Amino acid sequence: MSDPYISAYTERIGGRAAADKIGRVLLSEQQIRQRVKELGEEISRDYAGKQPLLVAVLRGAFVFMADLAREIELPVEVDFMAVSSYGHAKTSSGVVRILKDLDEDLTDRHVIVVEDIIDSGLTLSYLRRNLRNREAASVEVCALLVREGRQKVDEELKYVGFEIPPDFVVGYGLDVSGKFRNLPCIAEYTGAGHEE
Ligand code: IMP
Ligand code: MG
Repeated sequence: MSDPYISAYTERIGGRAAADKIGRVLLSEQQIRQRVKELGEEISRDYAGKQPLLVAVLRGAFVFMADLAREIELPVEVDFMAVSSYGHAKTSSGVVRILKDLDEDLTDRHVIVVEDIIDSGLTLSYLRRNLRNREAASVEVCALLVREGRQKVDEELKYVGFEIPPDFVVGYGLDVSGKFRNLPCIAEYTGAGHEE
């Protein structure tokens, strides 16, 4: 990363070796904040008079969810679900394991699944099928990022923050080997950690 202030910072939060692999900033804090505010306004309009349940998919969506919830001017509730992600493979297999299920009953609830990034879309496709079977009044998706041209399944995404190029990215909740979730912007990661 060329900015000396940012490289010193990424070194503190991820160590020298990993920080060297942080490439260009794709989305700045400011850009993310602005877009999350717009998504919040859109959701507030669409769900006026309702009390949507935001379901974050852990762990990557925790930062986005926290900011999004505060941009929605409705009596929202939150719940969390954890699913196994890539594991040891570079790409999603579509075989998803639920590591932590929801605490709330979804019957008649307006559910908004909050995701960090949609790559193949297989994780989401599984989740949607799973949640639909729980008698929710509606299930929509709000994804911060969608990687262009990678989706293997045609999933309808009602709310999308940004479409991004194929680069692997970290920050704002997204990690490589568990690190860089606390990076406030979204940056390209040029190392191989995610392919192990
Ligand atoms: P999908 O099933 O292929 O759509 O995979 C989506 C999941 O993979 C996301 O929820 C992330 O946890 C993870 N993922 C995909 N791309 C990235 C990335 O660039 N950085 C960090 N995690 C990613
Ligand atoms: Mg995830």
